Amino acid sequence: MKKFSIVIAGGGSTYTPGIVMMLLDNLDRFPLRKLKLYDNDRERQAVLGEAIESVLKEKAPDIEYCYTTDPEEAFTDIDFCFAHIRTGKYEMREKDEKIPLKHGVVGQETCGPGGIAYGMRSIGDMIELIDIMEKYSPDAWMLNYSNPAAIVAEACRVLRPNSKVLNICDMPVGTLRRISHIIGKEPQDLEVRYFGLNHFGWWTSVKDKEGNEYLPQIRDYVAENGYLTQKEVDTQHTDASWQETHKKAKDLLAVDPRFLPNTYLKYYLYPDYVVKTSNPEYTRANEVIAGREKTVFSTARQIIERGTAEGCEFEMGAHATFVVDLARAIAFNTHERMLLIVENNGTIANFDDDAMVEVPCIVGSDGPEPLSQGKIPEFQRALMYQQVTVEKLVVQAYIEGSYQKLWQALTLSKTVPSAQVAKEILDDLIEANKGYWPDLN
Ligand code: NAD
Ligand code: LMR
Repeated sequence: MKKFSIVIAGGGSTYTPGIVMMLLDNLDRFPLRKLKLYDNDRERQAVLGEAIESVLKEKAPDIEYCYTTDPEEAFTDIDFCFAHIRTGKYEMREKDEKIPLKHGVVGQETCGPGGIAYGMRSIGDMIELIDIMEKYSPDAWMLNYSNPAAIVAEACRVLRPNSKVLNICDMPVGTLRRISHIIGKEPQDLEVRYFGLNHFGWWTSVKDKEGNEYLPQIRDYVAENGYLTQKEVDTQHTDASWQETHKKAKDLLAVDPRFLPNTYLKYYLYPDYVVKTSNPEYTRANEVIAGREKTVFSTARQIIERGTAEGCEFEMGAHATFVVDLARAIAFNTHERMLLIVENNGTIANFDDDAMVEVPCIVGSDGPEPLSQGKIPEFQRALMYQQVTVEKLVVQAYIEGSYQKLWQALTLSKTVPSAQVAKEILDDLIEANKGYWPDLN
C-alpha cells in the first residue's frame, strides 16, 4: 500500500497528540512514511513535538518525523496538510467570548460576534498556509478543521477558489455518534441526509444501510433528553458546558420537530438563555485552559521528563478518525459519504449557488461530489440566508478593510439585538484585535 507524508499545521494544538495517536492506530488503513508538525509558536510546539518524538520512537520508528517552524521544511514533500490552527490562541478566544458577554450578547468561539472576530483573525493565516502548501507541494490537499470553519470556507471560496482545500467539522460526527448510540447502532451503519451551514444545520433522515428510517425514534428520544446519552460515547464534547448543550437540543427540536438540530443552533435560537446561563468571568476558553490544555501539556512534560511514553500516554482522539477517513477517501478513491462544507451550486435547490453549505458528499480522488438535498423549508432557509450573509459580509469586510461591512455583519447576526449594540461590540473588538485584523476604514 502507498505510504503518505503529512504535515499537521497547528503542531502545538491541544488536538495534535490525539490526532497523532489516532494516525498511529490507523496505520494499516492509512500508512505513513513521514509526519511533520508545523506551528508558528516555537515554544508551544516544542513541548508537544518532543513528547511525540518519544511516542514515535517507541511505536513507529520507521516514520520519518520532525517538528519545525520553518514553512519550507514543513511543507516540502507532503501529500496532506491537516490544518487546525488557532490564530491568537486561547488568549484571544477568551476575549472573543468575554467582550460580547460584557454587552449582554452571546460570547462564543464560532457563533455571533466572537466567531466574527475569530474569523477576521483566521482568514489571513489560512490563506497564507494554503499558499505555502501550494508553493512547496503543489499536488497536496489541505484538510482544514480550523475554526471558524464557515468563515474560513467562505474566504477560501472567494480568495483561493481553485485550491485543494476541504473544510470539515467534527460536530456532526460527534452528534451522529450520540444518535447511533440512541438507536443501538454504530455510526458507520448509518447514512444521513443533512442540510445547513457549518454549526447551523439539520438532519432530515437517518437510515441504516438497508434503508430503514430511524428519525422518528431518534426524535422521540431527543424531545425528552436532547443528545444526552447514558453512556459517554463522545470523547471530545464531555465537559459540563457540553452536557448542558447536548441537553438543550430538546428545545431546539421543539422549534421544528421534523428535523434533528445541530447543537450550535442554541446560540441563534436561544441567545437570551445562553447569555443568562453564561458566566462572563469564566467562559469556555477558561474551561479548556483548565481542562484539555492542562491535561495534554502536563502529559507531554511528563513524557519528556521520563524520556519515555510508556505508562504515560496521550489519549487517542478517536473522534478524529473522520480526518483519516477523509484523507483515505482522497488517497484511495473510496467514495466515502461524509458531511463537508462546499459551495452550494444547486445542492440545496432553493438556496444561493454561491453559499458555502454543509451537506453530505461522496468523496473520491477528485474531491467531494455533493449529494442533492432538494428544497428546504422557509424557516430554515430564512435563518440560513441571514447567517450566510453575515459570513459573506465578514469576508468582504476583511478583503476591503471595510468597517461598514463588518458593522453590518454584526448587526445582521441573530445573536445581536441592535445596530447600536453591534457598534459598541465592534469598537471593543477592534481594540482587542489590534495587530491581528486588517485596518478598517
Ligand atoms: P490551540 O491554541 O491549542 O492550538 C492552535 C495552535 O495553532 C497553536 O499552537 C498556535 O500556536 C498555532 N497557530 C496559530 N496560528 C498559526 C499559524 N498561522 N501557523 C501555524 N500555527 C499556528 O487550539 P485548539 O483548541 O487545539 O484548536 C485548534 C483548532 O482546531 C482551532 O481552530 C479550533 O477551533 C479547531 N477545532 C476544530 C474542530 C473541528 O472539528 N472543526 C474541533 C475542535 C477544534
Ligand atoms: C474546542 O474544543 O475548544 C472547541 O473548538 C469546541 C469546544 O469544545 O468548545
